Order: sequence, then C-alpha cells, then structure tokens
Amino acid sequence: MAAINLLEQLHLHLEALRAAGVLFVPRSQIAPVRFAPQPVVAPVEVLAQAHPVEVRRRELDVLAQEVAACGTCDELFSTRLTTVFGAGPLNAEVMFVGDAPGSDEDAQGQPFVGPGGLLLGRIVAACGFTRDRVYLMNVIKCRPPRNRAPSTAECVNCRDFFQRQFELVKPKHVVALGHFVSKLLAQQNAPLSQLRGTVHQYRGAPLICTHHPDDIDDDKTGRLKRETWDDMKLLLTTMGREVPKPS
Ligand code: URA
Repeated sequence: MAAINLLEQLHLHLEALRAAGVLFVPRSQIAPVRFAPQPVVAPVEVLAQAHPVEVRRRELDVLAQEVAACGTCDELFSTRLTTVFGAGPLNAEVMFVGDAPGSDEDAQGQPFVGPGGLLLGRIVAACGFTRDRVYLMNVIKCRPPRNRAPSTAECVNCRDFFQRQFELVKPKHVVALGHFVSKLLAQQNAPLSQLRGTVHQYRGAPLICTHHPDDIDDDKTGRLKRETWDDMKLLLTTMGREVPKPS
C-alpha cells in the first residue's frame, strides 16, 4: 500500500475528531500564542506630567494589548482570527455598543465594518454625527463561532475589559444595540419593547436602548427602522441637540 502522506494523515485524524464530536482544537495545541507588540511604557515621571487625557489614551492602548493577548474563553480564542477592541475618540459624545463582532469585524479587527456596520454608519450620519466622532464597541471582544449569541460565561469573562474600556473612554451618552446588550446595560430582564423609549443610566451616562442594525436589515416591514429613528430622536433630545429633518 502506498504510504499515506502527512497531510492526508492529519486530514483523517481531524475527520475522526470531528466524527467524535470535537468541533474545534484549542489553539494552545496548534499554535503558539501570538502577542501583539507591547506598547512602549513611558517612565513614571513622564506619565505624571502627562495630561489626564493622554494618560487615559495610554491606558486604553495597554488595555487593547491585554485584550489581544486574552485566551480566557477557550472556544473563542481558538476560533477567532483577531480581537475587536473598539474604535473612536475619548470623551465621545455617543458610544454605540453591540454584542459581539461578526465575520467581517473578526477579519479586520475593527467594529461594525460589515453590512450591519454600514447601516449603523447611515444611522449615525442621519443623527448629524460623523463616524469618527462616536465610539463603537462590543460587549464581547471575540467573534462567537457561527455568530451565535455570547454565553453567560463569555460575558462574565469580558466584563472587566468592557467596564475598564467604558471608564477610560468616558462617553457622554450610550446607545445599546439590540435586546441582548440593552438588557445587560439597563440591568433589566425585560423585552426590548419595554426598554425602548426610556432614558436609562449606565455608570453615570444616559443610556438609550434600540434595535441592532442586523435586525433592522432583516426586517422587511420597515417597522424596526421607524422605531430606531424614534429612539435616535430620543437620544438627540436627551443630548439637547436639534433633530435633523429626514432628507
Ligand atoms: N454586530 C455587532 O454587534 N458588533 C459588530 O462589531 C458587528 C456586528
């Protein structure tokens, strides 16, 4: 019998694992952990003289490095291409929070760059903001395989990252996108229909709950789009801004 080459053997081995119910191989067994380049840490006396915003920016960079090196959730660590930290300015007027990155975000390492992100960009523009004036981030920093909902354990594991990032960015207003994030940030076990239309608070910032752009995209009736615009009007009023006329 002709010798089976190594690749074929590996293929057969993986097929056998899959048949036995193994859906992913922990990355620690197949590749060394890749650490992103470490930030250059300034001497203490330089940091002490730095402007508080500069210090926060630096701490945010360090936090992003911690996130990139995190391997706490074995399945997410093994299946992700990259981590998706978040993007936008410190002291953002508004922070939009999604649940977890999708495949486009996982590939690019940036939040909301897929089809849902394009729609979010249009919502942001309709409110009169530019995308670089708002902060975009997710509760979970890695893509759950097949875009399944994040598990409770994954939310708990990522909670400290999320809270530290929130405190460092210090947004003035927060928008929770979708039922999952709305429940989490409003800390109420209620349907989105009950959470919408009220200004909640999250760590001292006014919080508005609305639909997730992926759900708006899927809704052919136009209802979710109209309701989202109502929520954005509530956001703008809460911010003391004029509501732009629809063009
Ligand atoms: N959906 C999310 O909740 N977050 C993203 O970054 C992209 C899609």
